[in-house]
Amino acid sequence: MTKIMNQYSDFAFIYDELMNDVDYNKWVEYIEDIIKSKNVNVKNILELACGTGNLTIPLTKKNYDIAGIDISYEMLSVAKEKAEKEGVELVLLQQDIAELDFELYDLDCVLCACDGYNYLTYDEEIQNSFFTVYDLLKKDGIFIFDISSFYKLSNILGNNTYGENREDICYIWQNYFDETENLVDMELSFFVKCEDNKFERFQEYHKQRAYKEDEILKMLKNAGFEDISIYGDFTFESPKDDAERIFFVCKK
Ligand SMILES: C[S@@+](CC[C@H](N)C(=O)[O-])C[C@H]1O[C@@H](n2cnc3c(N)ncnc32)[C@H](O)[C@@H]1O
Repeated sequence: MTKIMNQYSDFAFIYDELMNDVDYNKWVEYIEDIIKSKNVNVKNILELACGTGNLTIPLTKKNYDIAGIDISYEMLSVAKEKAEKEGVELVLLQQDIAELDFELYDLDCVLCACDGYNYLTYDEEIQNSFFTVYDLLKKDGIFIFDISSFYKLSNILGNNTYGENREDICYIWQNYFDETENLVDMELSFFVKCEDNKFERFQEYHKQRAYKEDEILKMLKNAGFEDISIYGDFTFESPKDDAERIFFVCKK
């Protein structure tokens, strides 16, 4: 059966399996190291684009009060189920991070990990989100997010096709990079083994924007942030030309 689905709908239910090579413990450690390095007292965190809770759940276990926001109902439902299994209480909200509607202010930290902002493809969307985050933070609060770099989206994903043939899941991931708009169109076809040992096929179409560091920096400054550090690939150093993940750390 062939189905055309939206971003992170059926994919949500196999997302964790396909991300099993990502070291989320290391990611949590890195976030905590960033917080320490900026001398911010963080008790609560608003996590944007929290997905299936791969950071939300371990951070909650470390006693942070967290609310997670994501646009995908399915990703949130996986997060909820995982949290229940692990006996962790999470506050989860289905919202678009371009139009955040969060009523609690004076937050210690706002976090957005693993490409959330690449999914906002218009300047106005990302700028609007930065304005709201600035408003939500307490004075001295910290905003930590990362994006897939321009280099990664234009060169590594670029116009290339990737695939994997696992025992229970196979996928083909075709990318098309539009150099005028700096957008990557991704066509994902998944084949997932069902109980009757037949494979079900479904497709998703994702779109991400490749941002240059300067574009993001300008929008952060417009929003009011002045103390901004930019790090490459889980280090505390400026990103190298071939860095794949760029971290922005902004103190209000
Ligand atoms: C690559 S996943 C990362 C999920 C999670 N942060 C992690 O590290 O596993 C990107 C997430 O961004 C979410 N997302 C994309 N566009 C969004 C938007 N406009 N508002 C809120 N969430 C969005 C997707 O639903 C998805 O859960």
